[in-house]
Amino acid sequence: MELPTGEVVCNLRDFEAIAKKKMDAVDYDYYAAGGEDELTLQRNKETWQHIVIWPRFLVDCSHIEMNTQLRSLGLDLSMPVLVPPMAMQKLAHPDGEVALARAAHAAGLPYCFTQQATTKFETVCEQAPGPKLFQMYIFEDRALSEGLLRRAEACGVKAIVITVDSPVLGRRERDLRNKFTPASRGVALVNYVARTSNGSQDAVKARTSGRDAGFSWSDLAWAKQATRLPIILKGIVHPADAALAVEHGVAAVWVSNHGGRQLDGGPATAVALPLVASAVRGRVPLIVDGGVARGADVLRALALGASAACVGRPLLWALAAGGEQGAGLALAMLREELRTAMALSGVVSVHKVARGLVQLPGEPSLHSSL
Ligand code: LAC
Repeated sequence: MELPTGEVVCNLRDFEAIAKKKMDAVDYDYYAAGGEDELTLQRNKETWQHIVIWPRFLVDCSHIEMNTQLRSLGLDLSMPVLVPPMAMQKLAHPDGEVALARAAHAAGLPYCFTQQATTKFETVCEQAPGPKLFQMYIFEDRALSEGLLRRAEACGVKAIVITVDSPVLGRRERDLRNKFTPASRGVALVNYVARTSNGSQDAVKARTSGRDAGFSWSDLAWAKQATRLPIILKGIVHPADAALAVEHGVAAVWVSNHGGRQLDGGPATAVALPLVASAVRGRVPLIVDGGVARGADVLRALALGASAACVGRPLLWALAAGGEQGAGLALAMLREELRTAMALSGVVSVHKVARGLVQLPGEPSLHSSL
C-alpha cells in the first residue's frame, strides 16, 4: 500500500522509519522513549511475538466476524481495537488529535482523548464525530479535574479513563537529554492550566504540575461521585490491583504499562494480561495496550482474555507519515491483518477466541494436553 507521498507501507511498523525522517529528532524521541533502560518497552514488543498461535483448519472461514461491543461502556467497535490516549499529537502532524480521531471514527473505532492533548477537547468533538473516551490524571485541585469531567460529559464521551500508573512521571532519559518540554517544541497542553508550584520548565515538572501523587484506592469514591460515566482504570498490571479495581466498581480494567514509559523493569502487558484475566474472572471487560503492532497481536490478546487491544505508537508514526490518511491506512492494514490471522487460525468470530488458541513461553507444549 502506498501513502500519497509514494512511500510504500506493508505493515504498521513500516510507518516508523517514514515518521522518523519527517519528524524533528526531539519529537521523535519523545514518542519513542521508554523509561530508563527501556526494558519494559522492549519486553512489550517482544513478548507478543513469543506467544505461539496454534491454528485449526477445515473451518468455514468464508465469513469472519470482527465487530464487537463493550457493553459496560456502551461502545460498538468494528473490530476489537481502541485508539488509546497519546499525548501531544500535534508533535506528529499539524492536524494532530483531530486527524487521529477522524481516522478512528472512519474505521468504526472509539478514540480515547488524552488530557495531555494539543487540541481543545471541544474542537476534536466538533470536527471528528464518533464515540470517545476521556483519559485523565487526577489533580490535587479536584475542582480542576471536575471541570474537565464536566467538559467531557458535555461532549458526550462514553467513559472516563483514569491513568493510575503515573503518581510521578517515569524517567525518559531521551527527553532529559533533549531537554524536552512542550513549550520548547512549540505545542501547548491546551485543555487545562494547572497551578504550578514553581513555574518550572523542567522536562518533567512542566508536564505533571498539579497532579495528585497521593491519589489512591480510597479516592476512587471521589471519582465515582464526581461523574455519572463509567470509570476505567488504565495502567493496571498486577492481578491483585485488577481484583481491587473490580471490587471498587470500575466498568473495565485497562492492562497497560504506559507503553513502557513509566516503571522500567515491570512485566510486558502480554505477561500481565492472562494473570489479570484470571483475577478478574470475566466480571468486567479488559483492554490491553503495549507493543501491539499486528493483527495477530490483537488475536493473541483476545485469546489471553482481552475484549479489545490498542495500538499506540504505530498510529502516531502513521499520523506523522500521512496525517488522517496515514492513520486510516494503518487501521485498515490492522483490520486486514486481523482478518487474515483469524482465517489462518480457524477463528471465525472475535467472540470465539479460546485460551487454548495460544501457548505462552514456558507453558506446557500442546501435545501434553491432547
Ligand atoms: C507520556 C504521558 C504524558 O507518556 O502520558 O508522555
